[in-house]
Amino acid sequence: MYKFIVKGGRRLSGEVSISGAKNASLALMPAALLAPGIFHIKNTPDLRDVATMSRLLETLGAKVTLDGKLQTIDTRGVKNFEAPYELVKKMRASIYVLGPLLARYGYAKVSMPGGCAWGPRPVNLHIEGMQKLGAEVTLEAGYIVARAKRLKGTHISFDVSSVGATGNIMMAAVLAEDTTTISNAALEPEIVALGDFLNKMGADIRGLGTPTITIKGVKELNPVDFESLPDRIETGTFLIAGAIAGGNVRAVNCEPDHLSALLLKLEEAGAKVQSGKNWIELEAPEAIRPVDVSTAPYPGFPTDMQAQWIALMALSTGSSVIAETIYFDRFKHVPELVRLGADIEVKENVAVVKGVRTLKGAKVMSTDLRASASLIIAGLVAEGTTEVLRIYHMDRGYERIEEKLRGLGADIERVQSDEF
Ligand code: EPZ
Repeated sequence: MYKFIVKGGRRLSGEVSISGAKNASLALMPAALLAPGIFHIKNTPDLRDVATMSRLLETLGAKVTLDGKLQTIDTRGVKNFEAPYELVKKMRASIYVLGPLLARYGYAKVSMPGGCAWGPRPVNLHIEGMQKLGAEVTLEAGYIVARAKRLKGTHISFDVSSVGATGNIMMAAVLAEDTTTISNAALEPEIVALGDFLNKMGADIRGLGTPTITIKGVKELNPVDFESLPDRIETGTFLIAGAIAGGNVRAVNCEPDHLSALLLKLEEAGAKVQSGKNWIELEAPEAIRPVDVSTAPYPGFPTDMQAQWIALMALSTGSSVIAETIYFDRFKHVPELVRLGADIEVKENVAVVKGVRTLKGAKVMSTDLRASASLIIAGLVAEGTTEVLRIYHMDRGYERIEEKLRGLGADIERVQSDEF
């Protein structure tokens, strides 16, 4: 086990290079199951979740290697169609293999994903979508078992915007007979990237990035080379770190257009933000102004930035209201921030943050990926030393975060810890 030791009080300045998007890779990798052959995916991040998805594809018979940022997936040996509980419980995105296996092999057996730190994470939209495409789906001893001779296109409308369900249904529909339309589809850039990847493989998908996606089924798809997009959540995390610690942070190899909601809020909070084709520069505010936020599906303020935003608001000059509309109870980071001296009250899905003048270092515990990020951000400015435990959560979604933060001047190191 490891923990981070963060010594507060260092201003951040300099340049940080953004890695490939975790949530794009977790969709692109299973999509490769739709065609036999060798795929090369550039700008793939070296993360625990990417390693977990690699292991899952290998249990299905594929070969996956990552050389620097270049991932190679060889799907010619795929002959098993079961995603075991041991892997799915580590990562909910494992459910993404359901659509491709069903579409290509007519059979898939995928463990039901467990919940996570912030409440249940249903997959009813995934299952109902597959059934509407003509699959027979049963639940057997904790596994989703899906069968279909050939899927048949239809109209699917999601009652909530779902990134995962949009991606899974898109991957199921590309080889189906006729045409599938998805209404209330997710607009997230990672889903657009998945659609671009599938189209490059020979699919016929239109409307990507809009609420209505149309997928005309094709007979077969081919392996391709592709370049994944930068991680907008990693980018936002470093910008908030710069805003809270003071100084001037420049994120490069990023995509400013994917972060407009956050950049506007950072400017409202008093930061000076400039951006270009693939860079964003942030000058920290003298004083952090309180700014209310309500999370929303893309292009709204991302739920994956909510925890980091609360950390920033903990040191603002007033009160701010942060509403979490995507998940209920995604506030596990709040009690840990309160241990650092933050003044935050949570009622149902709303956190009211009263800014304080200082935070004081303490031992805190990560509960999930983005919560860990908020604790590190707070530790950058807390007086004294903050120890962040259970940082395996961080390694799921941030590539070498301590190296990148040290490169900006932070005093953070990873040490062995026997504390769980
Ligand atoms: C994706 O999760 C991301 N993960 C999450 O990022 C992100 O928080 C989430 O989208 C929302 O943006 C990946 O892309 C791997 P959803 P996903 O389906 O697809 C409900 C991170 O930190 N829902 O868009 O699982 C669901 O409960 C992770 O990188 C159903 O009710 O999220 C939630 O309230 C955390 N039934 C809402 O929809 C379903 O069948 C949005 O969830 C599916 C979802």
